[in-house]
Amino acid sequence: PPDDTSPGTDDKQRQLDAVRVDLTGSELTTDQGVRVDHTDDALKAGERGPTLLEDFHAREKLTRFDHERIPERVVHARGAGAYGYFQPYDDRLVPYTVAEFLADPSVRTPVFVRFSTVAGSRGSADTVRDVRGFATKFYTQQGNYDLVGNNIPVFFIQDGIKFPDLVHALKPEPHNEIPQAQAAHDTFWDFVGQQPETLHMVMWLISDRALPRSYRMMQGFGVHTFRLVNAEGKGTFVKFHWTPVLGTHSLVWDEAQKIAGKDPDYNRRDLWDAIERGHHPEYELGVQLVAEEDEFAFDFDLLDATKIIPEEVVPVQPVGRLTLNRNPDNFFAETEQVAFHTANLVPGIDFTNDPLLQFRNFSYLDTQLIRLGGPNFPQIPVNSPVVPVTNNQRDGYHQHLIHKGRTSYSENALSDGYPEIAGPGPDVFSHYQEKVEGHKIRRRSNSFLDFTSQATLFWNSMSEPERKHIVAAFQFELGRVTDRSVRATVVDRLNHVDHELAVLVARGIGGPEPPAAVVDNHGRSSPALSQLSTAMES
Ligand code: HEM
Repeated sequence: PPDDTSPGTDDKQRQLDAVRVDLTGSELTTDQGVRVDHTDDALKAGERGPTLLEDFHAREKLTRFDHERIPERVVHARGAGAYGYFQPYDDRLVPYTVAEFLADPSVRTPVFVRFSTVAGSRGSADTVRDVRGFATKFYTQQGNYDLVGNNIPVFFIQDGIKFPDLVHALKPEPHNEIPQAQAAHDTFWDFVGQQPETLHMVMWLISDRALPRSYRMMQGFGVHTFRLVNAEGKGTFVKFHWTPVLGTHSLVWDEAQKIAGKDPDYNRRDLWDAIERGHHPEYELGVQLVAEEDEFAFDFDLLDATKIIPEEVVPVQPVGRLTLNRNPDNFFAETEQVAFHTANLVPGIDFTNDPLLQFRNFSYLDTQLIRLGGPNFPQIPVNSPVVPVTNNQRDGYHQHLIHKGRTSYSENALSDGYPEIAGPGPDVFSHYQEKVEGHKIRRRSNSFLDFTSQATLFWNSMSEPERKHIVAAFQFELGRVTDRSVRATVVDRLNHVDHELAVLVARGIGGPEPPAAVVDNHGRSSPALSQLSTAMES
């Protein structure tokens, strides 16, 4: 078992100890700390009532109960979380980033990870066919960094303006709230048919990857191309990969369905039990690095979140290990209230112009303002950094801090203890100096318009049993679509991915069979590794 006691690992736990509450041996009080002599019968007038309004303890008890729920997440509502730590293997990322937690092997960074399904509600079953979230909050000495990833390396859409449409299509249908956490319904497949950019992700979703056997045996991906930034301010494109040390394993569809009935908490329970038993889940962090000079060396756009960078072109380099070693004490306080955000960055990591990522950078904070009741949710213990927060942000609902002094503005001449601006330096975040030019346009860039090559690449990489599962899954899902034109449109789309696949699917759902093979963008080759100027170690 790993040594969990090194310096740094416990910084977050020490901070949380200050707010952990143990009621053993205590006496029942009201919220005002007043001890009460009775909590089973309300105060009444006479033997049989009515109940009296003056029973403040009874009213407080019911009021607090009435307000226990907060809105569930608009997506990824069902999840399970755990604490742990991350440590780099060596200093190989020093030339690329000033983010210490990635590049200094002596630094162990505490983390909180939340795994999730996407479509279902908080109480839905774990083993449904769905994408899984893999979100990690690193409590670094340079502030909080969140890597908010999924277990599938690509996404359904390229531009965030379509995210509400996607989610409206994949969530239960609005008139009857059916189906719960199932891809098998008309609106989802209608969306797929109308939006061919979804095809690559749909191939992953329909594969066994969407049925992970365990959160301990699941990959994670940052999905977008991000940027590492070094001490000289030079950027390098990066894709993040988590690989489970136990290997990547899936259920098969029959198992998944039976388990959903017998133990809807299957993945959540497995994670909890493994950690309780001391079988600490571990994941290796890997990076694909691409030099900025190679931005246009690929036959797809690096900013397009529906594309992978093939690993035979740019190998994944292992850079460190994540270990999960502690279950939360309270599901609501920690797993439910944790707030991840793609814009929680630290020095040494930055965005790219990926049009999906740009919307995520808006959406997470926006939704958390309502989900967690206002602007002070970063003070919730699971969300607060391990380093001091010193700024002029003030007031708002649920302010827990008492800021002293008269001033809450910069600059001021009153020497009243306002925070100084840090000068430039490796520990200070400064936005990457990317050059921007052009006119305002709404059109999709031509470099984003190949929707099928990588869907075909995925299909071609499948083994025979995996292909059988994919065909069966399409037949099951599309077979439950009631609108025949939606079925036909999707089969037509699949015909652009692989003709045999489209024919097999069509036969399983009662036709009609698609016409002869349609080949769109295939046959393009990716650049060989040697063609890239990237001098990255492999
Ligand atoms: C959760 C928006 C794309 C991964 C969420 C939430 C929102 C959201 C509003 C709920 C957050 C909360 O209540 O705390 C969006 C938008 C997207 C997008 C607008 C596209 C424009 C993606 C992509 C990924 C992803 C591409 C994966 C790379 C996640 C994860 C969570 C989440 C893992 C759950 C975080 C948790 O465990 O609390 N997203 N999302 N999302 N999203 Fe996205």
